[in-house]
Amino acid sequence: MGSTMPDETLPIAERRLLVPDEAATRRLAARLTEVLPRPCLVALAGDLGAGKTTFVKGVAAALEIDPAEVLSPTFGLIHEHAAAVAGGPRLVHADMYRLADPGELVETGWEEASGGDAWVFVEWPERIAAALPAERVEIEITIDSAVARTFTLRGRGAAQAAAVQAIEAPA
Ligand SMILES: Nc1ncnc2c1ncn2[C@@H]1O[C@H](COP(=O)(O)OP(=O)(O)O)[C@@H](O)[C@H]1O
Ligand SMILES: [Mg+2]
Repeated sequence: MGSTMPDETLPIAERRLLVPDEAATRRLAARLTEVLPRPCLVALAGDLGAGKTTFVKGVAAALEIDPAEVLSPTFGLIHEHAAAVAGGPRLVHADMYRLADPGELVETGWEEASGGDAWVFVEWPERIAAALPAERVEIEITIDSAVARTFTLRGRGAAQAAAVQAIEAPA
């Protein structure tokens, strides 16, 4: 038994938002940075091309980190971005698409990168399900059309649930 076991007693909040275009995805990401607790892990699920990396770019922009630095990682699975604003959180962007086996996670530097006062955004979180903290924000993106997406946000844990409840539909 560990903290990674599903905990049915955690408070959970859920919001489903229709996002009409990419600019709205970036606005939603910026809005999330206003309410997300620190530290926090955000699991980003959705098919290739859903907008997971685009969402992390929106988070980076809101933190004044150059969004062009946020890539779909080809070399290495984890990218760390130092805080660009005073007192801001470190941004960790992990893409586990190429993780062949969960046993390889230890070699990626996950333990070091995901600790401390960071916001950790994980694409393909299902590949490392056992390593995810029970208290987290889950975002599922589904593709509705070439430009429209449905975002389902779920906060697990008191602070994470409060953050999700504070999110409104993007204007
Ligand atoms: N509403 C939207 N939100 C996010 N991306 C969108 C949206 N509409 C179109 N796109 C496009 O979809 C693609 C998403 O790619 P990316 O963010 O790399 O997806 P993923 O990381 O989920 O594989 C980009 O080419 C982006 O321009
Ligand atoms: Mg991606």
